Amino acid sequence: MKINENYKNLSESYLFSTIAKKVAVYTQQHPEQEIIRLGIGDVTLPLAAPVVDALHAAVEEMGKKETFHGYGPEQGYGFLKQALMRYYARRGVVLAENEIFVGDGAKSDIGNILDLFDVDNTVLVPDPVYPVYVDTNVMAGRRIVYAAATRENGFLPMPQADVQADLIYLCSPNNPTGAAYSRDQLQAWVDYANERGAVLLFDAAYESFITDGDVPHSIYEVNGAETCAIEFCSFSKTAGFTGTRCSYTVVPQALVRGSLHLNAMWLRRQTTKYNGVPYIVQRAAAAVFTEEGQKATRAAIDYYRANAAVIAAALDEAGIWYCGGKNSPYIWMQCPGGMKSWDFFDHLLEHAGVVGTPGAGFGAQGEGYFRLTGFGDAEKTRLAAQKLKEAVRVL
Ligand code: MLT
Repeated sequence: MKINENYKNLSESYLFSTIAKKVAVYTQQHPEQEIIRLGIGDVTLPLAAPVVDALHAAVEEMGKKETFHGYGPEQGYGFLKQALMRYYARRGVVLAENEIFVGDGAKSDIGNILDLFDVDNTVLVPDPVYPVYVDTNVMAGRRIVYAAATRENGFLPMPQADVQADLIYLCSPNNPTGAAYSRDQLQAWVDYANERGAVLLFDAAYESFITDGDVPHSIYEVNGAETCAIEFCSFSKTAGFTGTRCSYTVVPQALVRGSLHLNAMWLRRQTTKYNGVPYIVQRAAAAVFTEEGQKATRAAIDYYRANAAVIAAALDEAGIWYCGGKNSPYIWMQCPGGMKSWDFFDHLLEHAGVVGTPGAGFGAQGEGYFRLTGFGDAEKTRLAAQKLKEAVRVL
């Protein structure tokens, strides 16, 4: 037999697993040290009351013969897809119900969508970027080219006429830098993809953090996106579903490559390999779109945004350059004193007990940078900000 040797080309472990392992070793050696985790973007607020109520009600339904649900439609229940259609319509985006696919996480769908594309395609990935885009393509053995996201271009690389790519990943607001593309900038990417027959894989997981009016929440707010873009979004960051698992992927009917409709291909793929998100979880997700659900969701996002502002204020006081935190829960800071990302990770862990994410873990261009998340507990974030300032002072 032949094994998939492409796995040899991956780094030893996934970025956030590496961090978790390093922290576990450190806590074993220093059991007295309080650790504040601002590394992985995991939420800390509990599910909102309307979501919990919906879960309870759905569990009751599952316990009665008359209202029990077995297998659901693999692409999601109508009640949730219709709520999503109304959510998109608020921004003038009209979606058909069969263009929405409910899933168990944007990360899974971002990896799984690659089933639709030949291994010979060239992939364009911004650098630094969410490591899943790179790792999933390395696993498949695809050629990857990088678009440098630097301080000079505001961490928002634009299309280059001399770069030919078939699959293009965009994440806006961006993980890890927090940078967000304007409407005009996204239009340039959509035009580029349509001209070349490329497909944009647009990750909108952080759309609910957008505050700038000029930043689209969905790629479909941009003209022509329905013929070149697939969009991934999630309830994880918006409504605290990191442990509950629910997401959605939009594959427009108008998206055709070769003689194949990508929507039909994705449906075929999902119905073959996937049995859908649990009924109770989809009921919980639908509750996010009720009036009460929206109110609670906005309050949670404000809470996380306030945390990001606390971190930003500490960096201002320490005289450290950073960006993000405005349309995003992430702060992307320059490591002080020209330190490398992993060295600053160790320094911050040892001198402050604060865990962040080394920028280098998101790509070569991330070296010298460091990401902190606003998803922590408010009290602990204030403490971490104080300790961060002290840890920088002792450098
Ligand atoms: C992150 O910290 O980058 C995210 O939490 C990872 C994810 O959403 O999978």
